[in-house]
Amino acid sequence: MIASSYICFIVSIFVLLSISSAASYDPVDFDAFLQCLPKHSDHSVSIAGAILTPNNASFQSTYQLRANNLRILLSATSRPVAIITALHPSHAQAAVICAKRHGFQLRIRSGGHDYEGLSYISDVPFVILDMFNLKSIDIDMKTETAWVQAGATTGELYYSIAQKSDVHGFPSGVCTTLGIGGHFSGGGYGFLMRKYGLSIDNVIDAQLIDTNGRILDRKSMGEDVFWAIRGGGTTSFGIILSWRIKLVRVPPRVTIFTVQRTLEQGATELAYRWQQVAPKLPKDLFIRLQLVPINNGGNNKTVTVSFIGHFLGQADGLLRLMNVRFPELGLTRNDCSEMSWVESALNWAGFPNGTSIDVLLNRVQVDRVFYKTKSDYYKAVIPKQGLETLWQVLMDIEDIFVQFNPYGGRMEEISESETAFAHRRGNLFKAQYGIQWSESDGGINATGRYVEMSRRLYNAMAPYASSNPREAFFNYRDLDIGSNESGETDFEVAKEYGAKYFMNNLMRLASVKAKIDPENFFKNEQSIPPLPTPPSH
Ligand SMILES: Cc1cc2nc3c(=O)[nH]c(=O)nc-3n(C[C@H](O)[C@H](O)[C@H](O)COP(=O)(O)OP(=O)(O)OC[C@H]3O[C@@H](n4cnc5c(N)ncnc54)[C@H](O)[C@@H]3O)c2cc1C
Ligand SMILES: *[C@@H]1O[C@H](CO)[C@@H](O)[C@H](O)[C@H]1NC(C)=O
Ligand SMILES: *[C@@H]1O[C@H](CO)[C@@H](O)[C@H](O)[C@H]1NC(C)=O
Ligand SMILES: *[C@@H]1O[C@H](CO)[C@@H](O)[C@H](O)[C@H]1NC(C)=O
Ligand SMILES: *[C@@H]1O[C@H](CO)[C@@H](O)[C@H](O)[C@H]1NC(C)=O
Ligand SMILES: *[C@@H]1O[C@H](CO)[C@@H](O)[C@H](O)[C@H]1NC(C)=O
Repeated sequence: MIASSYICFIVSIFVLLSISSAASYDPVDFDAFLQCLPKHSDHSVSIAGAILTPNNASFQSTYQLRANNLRILLSATSRPVAIITALHPSHAQAAVICAKRHGFQLRIRSGGHDYEGLSYISDVPFVILDMFNLKSIDIDMKTETAWVQAGATTGELYYSIAQKSDVHGFPSGVCTTLGIGGHFSGGGYGFLMRKYGLSIDNVIDAQLIDTNGRILDRKSMGEDVFWAIRGGGTTSFGIILSWRIKLVRVPPRVTIFTVQRTLEQGATELAYRWQQVAPKLPKDLFIRLQLVPINNGGNNKTVTVSFIGHFLGQADGLLRLMNVRFPELGLTRNDCSEMSWVESALNWAGFPNGTSIDVLLNRVQVDRVFYKTKSDYYKAVIPKQGLETLWQVLMDIEDIFVQFNPYGGRMEEISESETAFAHRRGNLFKAQYGIQWSESDGGINATGRYVEMSRRLYNAMAPYASSNPREAFFNYRDLDIGSNESGETDFEVAKEYGAKYFMNNLMRLASVKAKIDPENFFKNEQSIPPLPTPPSH
């Protein structure tokens, strides 16, 4: 039983699995694939050191190390035929050329945090291209920009920025082990979202390997592709080698706070009020709501509602603002801590006060749990009676948490079509429903039960969440939201999840896909298929 949202830091027993075999393939093709690789890579760094097959001792540990979700890792029915741990950009280029030529699917992994494990599982013979070693971060303070390779983590990015400046930051995820490669592909949000938008709103160039193994930049890929890879699920279009980002300015001291109330302490009224206030606050203030059911024994249950705040300024200013805009919360100076921006990033990631920023250099989460996540967008305030329903479901399920992340601010100013990320104006907040469990809660055997609980909460919230389409956040990948009807074409299936993830941008994404990858080489369970050409008459 785990009741926390900090899935980054929950400890569980790590299980060593005996590796299952790959989906069946022709060994002749596999030999040809292996022989192809050195022919297409730069010899300055030998690709031999990057190729792992099941015969290599470190194959299994490398496979597992960045497979973040035990639910997926332990239920995977087939394993990759090889893992290419690229040590040089040309190794990634060779992986594309050779996998395509010899009929293997390619799954690209940067940080391995995909909620549905799409970077490390497949039911056809596949190769994992692991970008984790390509992790350089080159910051240029004169232009306040940086080139960041796909394998760098959010923590490494924050650390590198802090080495250069205490008045710069970057708006991306709260967890510090996310891979920049996958994280930006769905937008990338964090506690600077209301001030600066998403990670991709601050991306100014990119290096992308296309289906022919060429490295393209913004100019050579063209504005359509550059548009698509910002929030449209980059993995449908190619492999991100690196992103060029614009750093953002932050004050030398920021203020954080957490205020917690139970239902008995008036949490319902405050959560109701929060929905009206938080999306309209000045951009400098971000207040996340976190809802966790508590069982005090017997039938004595409640829900704690935490207001977790980040203010780009000092406590005095925050208190003045809260006194005017949200006096009901009763924020006091004692609730507030001032610190540097990078220290606040540590705090959001769940590290205790006083932790050295060196922890940002820990690249993988060694202790992992089983989890299932779902998301929603809300455009209308959930009425009090709806909140009561939510509390009831939470208290019934118990092992679940909900986060509401406020929109508004900068998110309101960027049009739906400016990048492929469509959830902008008119959203009050985004919800994450997370359920997680460990070996002691039944491990993989309990998966069906926990996944069902997450669906139950999702269904209960249907009357209040966005509808037609019921929008979902691409970074919170959820295979439930697709269609499961048989006999549909790739495109018909994609219209179901695509409308939820990308809304009106789906058609443009599919037409970009038709141009850059018409054969649909870059493919997974929820990728964007090429727009079918209309039948000619
Ligand atoms: C504990 C935790 C906390 C999270 N917190 C946040 C958060 O605060 N904000 C937020 O926005 N999201 C958050 N997420 C979601 C996260 O952004 C996504 O899971 C993201 O896809 C992770 O990227 P990755 O590189 O680590 O994962 P991976 O599993 O390596 O990749 C994810 C997807 O991107 C593709 N991909 C990976 N690398 C590349 C590449 N170089 N080029 C092309 N495609 C690639 C993969 O094939 C896969 O489909 C969180 C997830 C977890 C597990
Ligand atoms: C994997 O094994 C092969 C064959 O034994 C070897 O040549 C290669 O160097 C090994 N790869 C790594 C990365 O150790
Ligand atoms: C329920 O638990 C809380 C917290 O332990 C306690 O303060 C309260 O008195 C309990 N209520 C009842 C009815 O037992
Ligand atoms: C955090 O730690 C510092 C010293 O390391 C201390 O001065 C400060 O009061 C602490 N803040 C909180 C909120 O505990
Ligand atoms: C899961 O199921 C298997 C097979 O039925 C069983 O051997 C194992 O002990 C179970 N594990 C747990 C944690 O219940
Ligand atoms: C599709 O999913 C729904 C909801 O999970 C389920 O009720 C239905 O049986 C599924 N249909 C098929 C054909 O798998």
